[in-house]
Amino acid sequence: MTAPFDPQLGAGPSAAPQPLIQVEDLKMYFPITSGVLINRHVGDVHAVDGVSLAINKGETVGLVGESGCGKSTVGRTLLRLYRPTAGRIIFDGQDITLAEGSTLRAVRRRMQMIFQDPYSSLNPRMTAAGIISEPLEIHGVGVGRERRERVRALLATVGMDPDYGDRYPHEFSGGQRQRIGVARALALHPDLIVADEPISALDVSIQAQVINLLERLQGEFGLTYLFIAHDLSVVRHISDRIAVMYLGKIVEMAGSRDLYERPLHPYSIALLSAVPIPDPKVEGRRRRIILTGDVPSPSNPPSGCRFHTRCWLRERLSNPEPCVAEEPALREMATGHWVACHFAEEVDGTAEQVQVTGRRGGVAGKGLAAAGAGATGAADAGRIQPVLIDGVS
Ligand SMILES: Nc1ncnc2c1ncn2[C@@H]1O[C@H](COP(=O)(O)OP(=O)(O)O)[C@@H](O)[C@H]1O
Ligand code: SF4
Ligand SMILES: [Mg+2]
Repeated sequence: MTAPFDPQLGAGPSAAPQPLIQVEDLKMYFPITSGVLINRHVGDVHAVDGVSLAINKGETVGLVGESGCGKSTVGRTLLRLYRPTAGRIIFDGQDITLAEGSTLRAVRRRMQMIFQDPYSSLNPRMTAAGIISEPLEIHGVGVGRERRERVRALLATVGMDPDYGDRYPHEFSGGQRQRIGVARALALHPDLIVADEPISALDVSIQAQVINLLERLQGEFGLTYLFIAHDLSVVRHISDRIAVMYLGKIVEMAGSRDLYERPLHPYSIALLSAVPIPDPKVEGRRRRIILTGDVPSPSNPPSGCRFHTRCWLRERLSNPEPCVAEEPALREMATGHWVACHFAEEVDGTAEQVQVTGRRGGVAGKGLAAAGAGATGAADAGRIQPVLIDGVS
């Protein structure tokens, strides 16, 4: 690591990426208290526990992981809706980690959020025009006619009839409501938009429309996106790079294509096994990797690798010691492809990896025999267990 943020930029030195926002070792803990009269601090929810990430200007980074792994908290902390417990946040070259008052307000204008649920995120008692113009009012942008014209233009920008401004949220469909949420987010000409599961609550038929809208707006306004999703099915096409999170940490980060073609973390592979592949021949042979055990509590995360209580590879390798004893650091396995697993080398070429990527072939026994010669010497050919998933051999 030559500079604090280099590892996650990913594009290589020649591309000279310009980060719009960078976080370094970001931590966001929420206190747990107990007691009736006096609240005693008895612990913390480690919602985000050491995340480093940079999003370049005009780029879309997808942030993916199961519910509760800390995605929304990363998004909210990035926008400084929370004051981080530790770490640094740099926005367009300015350290905003502890910014307050007018400095924070000025920065907040340039960063907006789109929420998951367009039903609950819009005030039911306000008209669409009122909702969209609220940020303009808060920041004192324009007055009267000028503001009304701006709202009409914003409605048109998100593909809605400008005359719909006097309607109330309940008069719109889910997709239209999300468009109103997008128009509101655009009102102040932001640079960065955190889209927190923006299509999860929408019908599948509408999802593509909203994705297309976000892509078009990105091109038109040069927007930078953090696009949050709970699975890997929706982020593939919209993301330039994808970060996979597990229990408050990034476990894998790579260019979008790289992640789908060569996932290297056992957790990413499990997530990918749930994503359908369009080729019915390939799809018919696939089996989902079911992760055993519950998601551990973020207030008391497992020792060593946080994923060790549910990891199929660890089991395969006969439970090597480092999984429990040492926290795996993010390592660059290929240019711009970062993985936090002690045994990521063993993942490459396994039947599981081959199957989730829809590739043919694969290296028989790869990762299993090799582990015998690896750091732990924990597995040997005699202990190879049958592959988890049928159909690829
Ligand atoms: N404001 C809060 N106060 C206390 N705990 C919170 C708060 N927000 C989130 N959490 C906890 O932090 C963890 C991560 O939550 P969140 O960021 O919402 O995850 P995700 O968006 O991935 O579902 C969860 O255990 C959640 O209960
Ligand atoms: S370090 Fe061990 S437990 Fe963690 S993902 Fe890798 S193999 Fe699994
Ligand atoms: Mg969330």
